[in-house]
Amino acid sequence: MNRKLLRSVREYKRQTILTPVLVALEVFMEVLIPLLMANIIDVGIAQGDMGYIIRLGLLLVFLAVIALIFGAKAGQLAAIASAGYAKNLRHDIFYKVQDFSFGNIDHFSTSGLVTRLTTDITNVQMAYMFSIRLLARAPIMIILSLIMTMTISVPIALILLVTIPILGGILIYIAKKAHPHFIQVFDEYDVLNNTVQENVNASRVVKAYVREEHEKEKFGKISTLVFELFTKAEKIVAWNSPIMQFTVYAVVLIMVLIGGKSIIGGTMLTGELTSVIVYAIQILSSLMMVTFVFVQIMIAEASTDRISEVLEEVPEMEDAADALTDVPNGDIDFEHVNFSYSGEGGNLSLKDVNLHIKSGQIVGIIGGTGSAKSTLVQLIPRLYDVTEGCVKVGGIDVRKYNLKALRDQVSVVLQKNVLFTGSIYENVRWGDENASDEEVQRVCRLAQADGFIQEFPAKYETMIVESGNNVSGGQKQRLCIARALLKKPKILILDDSTSAVDTKTDALIRQAFREEIPDTTKIIIAQRVSSVEDADVIIVMDNGEINGIGTSEELLKTNKIYREVYESQVKGDADNE
Ligand SMILES: Nc1ncnc2c1ncn2[C@@H]1O[C@H](COP(=O)(O)OP(=O)(O)OP(=O)(O)O)[C@@H](O)[C@H]1O
Ligand SMILES: [Mg+2]
Repeated sequence: MNRKLLRSVREYKRQTILTPVLVALEVFMEVLIPLLMANIIDVGIAQGDMGYIIRLGLLLVFLAVIALIFGAKAGQLAAIASAGYAKNLRHDIFYKVQDFSFGNIDHFSTSGLVTRLTTDITNVQMAYMFSIRLLARAPIMIILSLIMTMTISVPIALILLVTIPILGGILIYIAKKAHPHFIQVFDEYDVLNNTVQENVNASRVVKAYVREEHEKEKFGKISTLVFELFTKAEKIVAWNSPIMQFTVYAVVLIMVLIGGKSIIGGTMLTGELTSVIVYAIQILSSLMMVTFVFVQIMIAEASTDRISEVLEEVPEMEDAADALTDVPNGDIDFEHVNFSYSGEGGNLSLKDVNLHIKSGQIVGIIGGTGSAKSTLVQLIPRLYDVTEGCVKVGGIDVRKYNLKALRDQVSVVLQKNVLFTGSIYENVRWGDENASDEEVQRVCRLAQADGFIQEFPAKYETMIVESGNNVSGGQKQRLCIARALLKKPKILILDDSTSAVDTKTDALIRQAFREEIPDTTKIIIAQRVSSVEDADVIIVMDNGEINGIGTSEELLKTNKIYREVYESQVKGDADNE
């Protein structure tokens, strides 16, 4: 198993080590039992000594009970160790994901992360449990039983010595054959999970587009594929048991033949033959167990790889030891910024961007879809790092700040925003968990959300259901703005955050910003010219570059793109009136 993953065992090391120790003790007892049986038959029964039979019989029961207790205790410890290990792994993955930057998150799919936290961990947990319980048991059992057999009959021990590698080889061959099919099964599981998750998340869209049949078909296909692959793998593994049975019977038959001759020849006793047969069965079934564990480990191998991928992912952003915690003001500067989502050498989404914004300014950003408006603003709170050049906030490179301190001062309302399950109070308090009810209400008034909240019967205690599906698009946007305002940031970024809000409310929000938070730098990305028209500066983005920069008046004179957008929208409005 992957060594790095084993680090997560931590406080369950004690159970992990104790399990094989107890298993070993259990095996010792079990190995003694056939020996006692042989003595009961060969000495007690042969000499008709009832007292001897009873004494050994009691000893036998005693050993069996001790073995049982050790076995049960080992089982319990193994369960604690493996479940605890799984808990720690889950914890580690979860914490790791919290440290991920946007760039890190781009590397994994959501369903991939969910499968890792569930199915993959369960696989590792099972493999771990079997490993510590059975991998210790099998070798000890095989070696001790072989030694015992050797003391009774060398020829029979030799037969076993020959059989063990052959049977072991065959069983491992089978496991290896099945392995690639198991790997495929788990890959398809990922696809299956992804389909289910996407479908369930987007069930409203599926219904709106009447795509149910198509989705059912897609699901059916993958589900069948998983079934087929699993059957294929299990069909191969199914050979294990009959081969094993066959070998056991064949070996016992040969042993009886040889043993029978020895008994007639007087070199072996009946009880001895009985005990070597028991030893043979114990040895061969231990082998069977080993291959069983082997299959489990191979199944878990794919899972461990996938888990390590997450645990070994290097968080792209980590705070320097001397990171600054004080953001002096809301100045923003971009100096020769190039940015690519795929890192150095990748396709540039931003090309040589230079920009200087003064604290307290209202900045509008406008531009066609895909022109990199969102990309531009995401660099300010360091959701992504620049590929070349530098972004400064308050005159200092954003990479010099402590991330939390920076993001507390640069509040972004993301374009793809969500609310969480909980009351309106709880949702807005994501911005500042210590804010009083009055403060929450104040920012909601600023964001023009108070009006509709007051109309809900439960007002601020109204429960928001998953991702905000029970409020309208425009209401959700206003709640998201309120949440961002509660941080009292020095820079507030709204990425298309009023697209679903009517123009009048939109204007009221901007007016409130101007009056109530004059010192905060406000960046407003919008598709509507009316949302940015009154800004101090407007940036026109085109294909990853700044195409023009200036006030609405200036741009109308100098910038073709702005003029076209302005004319189409203003003219369109005029036509509508
Ligand atoms: N996470 C990402 N990984 C890779 N490429 C991305 C990612 N996000 C955006 N892009 C690409 O970067 C470019 C700019 O996208 P961006 O989202 O910044 O555009 P936008 O101007 O905000 O568009 P819109 O008006 O539609 O929101 C696009 O070509 C897009 O495909
Ligand atoms: Mg965008």
